[in-house]
Amino acid sequence: MERIVVHPSGPLEGRIRLSGAKNSVLKLMAATVLAEGTFVLRNVPHIVDVDCMADLLRSMGLGVDHCDNVLTVVRPADINPEAPYELVERMRASIVVLGPLLARVGRARVALPGGDDFGPRPIDMHLQSLERLGAVFSTAHGYIEGHADRLVGARIFLEFPSVGATENAVMAAVLAKGETVIENAAREPEIADLAGFLNRMGARVLGAGSPTITIVGVEELFAVEHEVIPDRIEAATFLAALGACGGELVLEAARPDHMDMLMQKLGEMGMRISTHPDGVWAMVGERLRSADVSTLPYPGIATDYKPFLVSILAVAEGVAIVAENLFSGRFRYIDELVRMGADIRIEEHFAVVRGVRRLSGAPVRAHDIRAGAALVVAGLAADGDTVVSDAHHIARGYERFAEKLRAVGADIETS
Ligand code: EPZ
Repeated sequence: MERIVVHPSGPLEGRIRLSGAKNSVLKLMAATVLAEGTFVLRNVPHIVDVDCMADLLRSMGLGVDHCDNVLTVVRPADINPEAPYELVERMRASIVVLGPLLARVGRARVALPGGDDFGPRPIDMHLQSLERLGAVFSTAHGYIEGHADRLVGARIFLEFPSVGATENAVMAAVLAKGETVIENAAREPEIADLAGFLNRMGARVLGAGSPTITIVGVEELFAVEHEVIPDRIEAATFLAALGACGGELVLEAARPDHMDMLMQKLGEMGMRISTHPDGVWAMVGERLRSADVSTLPYPGIATDYKPFLVSILAVAEGVAIVAENLFSGRFRYIDELVRMGADIRIEEHFAVVRGVRRLSGAPVRAHDIRAGAALVVAGLAADGDTVVSDAHHIARGYERFAEKLRAVGADIETS
C-alpha cells in the first residue's frame, strides 16, 4: 500500500474490532527464543512489523507460520544467535532478542537498531541492564556482540522507565541464577502481557505493570499458547477518527483499563466516551474543545497517541499546548498538517495548536506509522481530497486500516 486517498467523510457509525497489540506481540515473538518447542500465539495482527520479526526468527533457525491471526513458532534445540543488519534496520524492536538470546544461548550478535527517526534513540539502558546481570558486550562493524556464561540475578535501576530496556531485562532475568529486581520499570500494559506469557512458560515474574518488577530465575521454560492483548494505540487512532468527523463507535475488544488517561483526555475535549460490554463506546456530536496534552510513560498519555491527538486538536475549538517528553524529534508530521491548513507552531519540544474550523485536503507524506495514521485522521476533517503517500508506513502497525474505517463510513481508497 503506497497511497491512501481520504475523501471528505460524514459521521462514522458502527463497530470496529481491534487487532492484537503490535507492541506486545513483537516481544512475545522474541521470547519464544527462551524455550524449545511449539508456541501458538492468537490474535496476532497481519502487519509488516510482525512479518519483520518473523523473518528475524526464521533467520535464526526458528520455524514461523502466520495464518488467520494465529502465529505458530517452532523453536528447535539449536539456533543461530545473530540478528543481521538488513533485518534489524527495518525494525528497531528487533533489539529485544538480545536479552532472550543471552539468557538461553549465552551469546548474541545483534546489529545496532535503526527504525523511526524520532531523534536520538540510544540503547544504553538495554546494555547497562544486561551488564548488571553479567553480560559482557563489545561493539564492532555496526554490531553488538554479547556473551554471558550464566546470567546472575541483580538489582537494576532504570534511569528512565524505558519499555524496551525493561522487556530485555525481564526476558534475560527469567533464566538467570537467583533474583532480579528492576526498579523504575516501564508499566505499559504490553509489559504485563509479556510477563503473563513468560509466567505461562514457567517463569516467575512478579509486579509487572508496577514500577518494581521482581524475577526469580528458573532452570527451564516451556513452549505455550497465549492470546495477545488488544492494541490500545489502534483504539486511540479510531477514537481520533471519530473526533475528526463525528459519529458513534463501539470499539470491540478494547480494554478501557489500558486507556484511562486517554479516555479522560478525550472526555475533557467533549467526546462522550465510556466502557461498553464489548469494549469502549464513544460519540461525538459537536466540535471538540482544545485541551493541553503532555506525553509521559504509562499510565500517562502515550507519545504514540500524540500525532492523532494533534490532528483533532488542529480542528478543535481553542488553543492547546502539546508537550512531547519522550522523543524530542517526534514532530515531523506537523509540517504535513500545516500543509493542510493547520495553525501549529513548534517551540523546542512543544507544539502550540490553534484550532481552525476545517482543514483542506492536500498531498502529504507519511514519515512513520503513527504520523501516517494521523494524516488519514486529519484527512477525515478536511475539505477536498487528502492523498497520503508512503502509506506503507501505516501497514507496519495497522491491520486492514482503511478497510476498518470504510466499514464505519469513512470514504477512503488505497492504492
Ligand atoms: C516502545 O519503544 C514502543 N515501540 C514505541 O512505539 C513507543 O513510542 C515507546 O515504547 C514509548 O512508549 C515498541 O514497543 C516496539 P523506550 P521503545 O525505550 O521501547 C529513551 C510505535 O509507534 N531511551 O520506552 O524504543 C528513548 O530515547 C512505537 O508503535 C534511552 O535513552 O521506547 C526515549 O526517549 C514508536 N536509552 C525514551 O527512553 C535506552 O536504552 C523511551 O523509549 C532506551 C530508551
